[in-house]
Amino acid sequence: MHDSSGAPKNPAAAGVLVSAKALDVALPDMAAKPVFGRAPLIRIINGIDLDIARGSVLGIVGGSGSGKSTLGRALLRLIEPAAGTIEFDGLDITRLGEDALRPVRRRMQMIFQDPMSSLNPRRRVGAIIADPMQMHGFDRIDGRIDDALDHVGLPRGFRSRYPHELSGGQRQRVGIARAIALEPEFILADEIVSGLDVSSQAQVLNVLAGLVGELGLTLAFISHDLSVIRRICDQVMVLQRGSIVEYGDVDRVFDAPQAAYTRELLDAIPLPDPQQANW
Ligand SMILES: Nc1ncnc2c1ncn2[C@@H]1O[C@H](COP(=O)(O)OP(=O)(O)OP(=O)(O)O)[C@@H](O)[C@H]1O
Ligand SMILES: [Mg+2]
Repeated sequence: MHDSSGAPKNPAAAGVLVSAKALDVALPDMAAKPVFGRAPLIRIINGIDLDIARGSVLGIVGGSGSGKSTLGRALLRLIEPAAGTIEFDGLDITRLGEDALRPVRRRMQMIFQDPMSSLNPRRRVGAIIADPMQMHGFDRIDGRIDDALDHVGLPRGFRSRYPHELSGGQRQRVGIARAIALEPEFILADEIVSGLDVSSQAQVLNVLAGLVGELGLTLAFISHDLSVIRRICDQVMVLQRGSIVEYGDVDRVFDAPQAAYTRELLDAIPLPDPQQANW
């Protein structure tokens, strides 16, 4: 999080947590797949260099199809990179096998765009939050479920509800609770408020922004919404066709964008509605 001075919010926890160097991601181009044989690979992400400082929030913006989700998923080793390196807390995880990755996986979590599809509709909230903790061998799971619900501002009684018994914003807070229950250091949030109405968006963002400070989280925050990026990010990366067109401190990029594409994105921001600008 940034304040008006631009100083890191938590200077004591300085240092880079997530780093990528010359990262390329290629995926099979199914449209060009021959009837027999493999689809040719197309490059989705080109030569990305990034450093996310511990305790900071990196915004990733760009048009639809620019590669934001692909980059995020590659950082979490959910997609294999074609070239380049990814480091997490100084450890090169680019080629780590699943066994070696397992402890790292707990430390990097993801919150998804659509909680209705990412939360199992047949599990109660308590079980949804408990499942990954069980998988990672946590103790005191019951108390941790309550703590996680407290952190996201949901009543503890919600543990017995099903996802369909919650509002969209409450569901998204369950997604956040499930992620933070694992005590991760890094969270990737991919368009997590884009399906919500404006007031639920504000609530979910306030919860997340609060947790970043409180728990010292490091966040990569993918969003179409540049006003949200400015509100919660320290740095911003602008992607176009899988390449970085601009990357820097959020205030610098918003106040003095260098790339024509960034200026286009900024010009497209609707003027804020003062009625709704309550955060
Ligand atoms: N599994 C896949 N196989 C092949 N191509 C893919 C795959 N997933 C994404 N792509 C392509 O990669 C490019 C980047 O997709 P990605 O989902 O990363 O974009 P995005 O910036 O997240 O877009 P959006 O804002 O719409 O979510 C797109 O051209 C997309 O069609
Ligand atoms: Mg996406």
